[in-house]
Parts: sequence; C-alpha cells; structure tokens
Amino acid sequence: MIELREAIIEDREKAYQWLYYSDFSKFLNRLEGLTGETIPSYEKFKEDYQDYYFNGSHPEKGRCYIIVSTKNGKREDIGIISYTSFHLLEKITEFDIWLKSLAYTGHGYGTQAILKLVKIVKGRSYAKIIIRPSKHNQMAIKSYKKAGFVEKELKPWEYYREGYVDKFSEGDYGPGGDVFMVLSLL
Ligand SMILES: CC(C)(COP(=O)(O)OP(=O)(O)OC[C@H]1O[C@@H](n2cnc3c(N)ncnc32)[C@H](O)[C@@H]1OP(=O)(O)O)[C@@H](O)C(=O)NCCC(=O)NCCS
Repeated sequence: MIELREAIIEDREKAYQWLYYSDFSKFLNRLEGLTGETIPSYEKFKEDYQDYYFNGSHPEKGRCYIIVSTKNGKREDIGIISYTSFHLLEKITEFDIWLKSLAYTGHGYGTQAILKLVKIVKGRSYAKIIIRPSKHNQMAIKSYKKAGFVEKELKPWEYYREGYVDKFSEGDYGPGGDVFMVLSLL
C-alpha cells in the first residue's frame, strides 16, 4: 500500500541522494548529459528544491510529498513526488517523481503515487498536469501513460508563463530529448 505524506526539510537531502546517487542514477544522469564532475551539488539542488517544497509555505508554487509504502505493517519512505507551478500558466502544474532505488520500480508504486497526487492537485483546482520524461526512459513513459497522461506536441506559450518560456521549454534533456505529456483534469 502506498500513501503520500507532506515532505519536511529533513527529507530534502535523502531525496537528493536518491536522485543522483542511487542505482538508477547513472542511467538518468547520462540522459541528462551529467557526468561525475557535473552532477549538481546539494547546494544547487536546494536552489531548485527550495524550502517551500518542504515546509508548505507556498503551495501555489509547489510542494513535495514523500511516497510511503506499508508492507507487513512496516512503513518505509520509498520515493518523492512533487508538483511545481511557479513557471506555468494559471491552473497548470508539472509533476516530478523518483523512487529511491531500482528495487522499488516496476511494482506500480510510482503510478499509484501519481494518482494520489493527481487527486490532491484536482482538489486545488488545477486543470492540467504536465510531465516531461526523457524519450529513452520507457519505464517512466509507461507509468505516466498508465496514470492517464497522453503525449502532446509542446506549444510552449500554451503552458509556460512569459519570462519562463526560454528557460523551461527545452526541458531537461535538450531539444527533442523528451516526451511532452499532459493529463487533463476537466
Ligand atoms: C518512473 C517511476 C517513478 C515509475 O514508477 P514505477 O513504480 O516504476 O512504475 P510502474 O511499476 O507503475 O510502471 C513501470 C512500467 O515499466 C515497465 N518497465 C520496467 N522496466 C522497464 C524497462 N527497462 N523498459 C521498459 N519498461 C520497463 C514495468 O513493467 C511497468 O509496466 P507494466 O505495468 O506494464 O508492467 C520509477 O520507475 C522511477 O523512479 N524510476 C527511476 C527514476 C525516474 O526515471 N524518474 C522519472 C524521471 S522523469
């Protein structure tokens, strides 16, 4: 069974470790063009994942949740999921998710976590969710399709706020490197 709990500041550093130093990180880092020398420092990670993701002070900008699994009565933090809205037009938000290691992938946990966060953002009156996996990350693409996301052509001005189009429309994987996916909540 999967639950989401609101992440707290103490969760931030382990989320960083899970992202850049777990057994799937080599694969993800390579997709992002990162090498041992260019993996972001924890200080840099904190610039992207500012305090408000972990203390709830700006829910209109974004929030992180820890994915908690309960198995045979034992609870365990197994990943992190977030929505981010500061860079997007009204009623649009973007999801990001990673589990803590490969052993936890492929069991449906990520998809269940997405569906739970979909419910939360629906309750906050969002109308659309976007997500942008690498085109080489089939596991992620499959999961997002199962959660209801569909592939769309990206027209940046239909999603990004003025001032953020140039910075974000390319995505994390360079031109043409990602699959732009949308879940419409209306
Ligand atoms: C992306 C992620 C959150 C998805 O969560 P998950 O719990 O693994 O997702 P699910 O188990 O529901 O679905 C994954 C699907 O991919 C399949 N799969 C597993 N390994 C695969 C592979 N190497 N190639 C293709 N498909 C694969 C699984 O069988 C499953 O499909 P199925 O339900 O039809 O059997 C999780 O895999 C993850 O954290 N991956 C590493 C970090 C990452 O890539 N994050 C996303 C960045 S955009």
